[in-house]
Amino acid sequence: MLPREEASRELAREVLGRIAACAAEGRRCVLGLATGATPRALYAELVRGARGLDLGQVVTVNLDEYLGLAPDDPRSFRSEMRAVLHGPLGIPPERAWFPPSDGEGAALAERCAEFEARLAELGGIDLQVLGIGRNGHLAFNEPGAPLDGRTREVLLHEVTRADAAAAFGGLERVPRRAVTLGLGTILEARALRVMAFGASKREVVARALAGPLDTAVPASALRLHGDCRLWLDASCAPHP
Ligand code: GLP
Repeated sequence: MLPREEASRELAREVLGRIAACAAEGRRCVLGLATGATPRALYAELVRGARGLDLGQVVTVNLDEYLGLAPDDPRSFRSEMRAVLHGPLGIPPERAWFPPSDGEGAALAERCAEFEARLAELGGIDLQVLGIGRNGHLAFNEPGAPLDGRTREVLLHEVTRADAAAAFGGLERVPRRAVTLGLGTILEARALRVMAFGASKREVVARALAGPLDTAVPASALRLHGDCRLWLDASCAPHP
């Protein structure tokens, strides 16, 4: 249990250490990234701490993106990440991957399968940063998502859309569809690093950690991973 700032600093130290080790060995460093409010302090720490580090081996892979927005729409996750991390770190778009977010139907499904193939060729994700949605989602794997799911188009849950309403200026403007890495894809990352802060997450965190391992709470799938660390603050941690 740690306050958000301290947890973010601790995780930033681990991520920066990995980046430095990869640079020293000339190895690629594949970082899986999440959006939302939770990892913002982590990204600020990374921007502060990366000064002077060689980021040439870093490839980032974001978890998800809304469908139906222009790539330069300020509400897209791509824009958000450019503003808070990729821009300040100088990571070019070809090393800042996102799942495909245009097209539809079979063409989109094909692009998702290609994305998975490229990710496998890259060697998979070394360290995946994750938050947890208020309804227990991981990325946009909403309640009911299959544990072995791959990158695909999904329909957003009403809780997820409600949580995004302020950013979009009203619920009716929030996209209904998105593309997400699947739980199967996420669980293949070599390390999972999860943060959840605030009382609004307490109930779902308790269910994810101590309830049944159940697709109704996608975050319960974290328990299937052999190298998963979770940071909670005092208001989010289940009572002892
Ligand atoms: C988002 C993302 C998730 C994120 C979650 C929690 O919409 N798709 O990857 O973890 O919702 O967001 P927040 O950190 O703002 O609570």
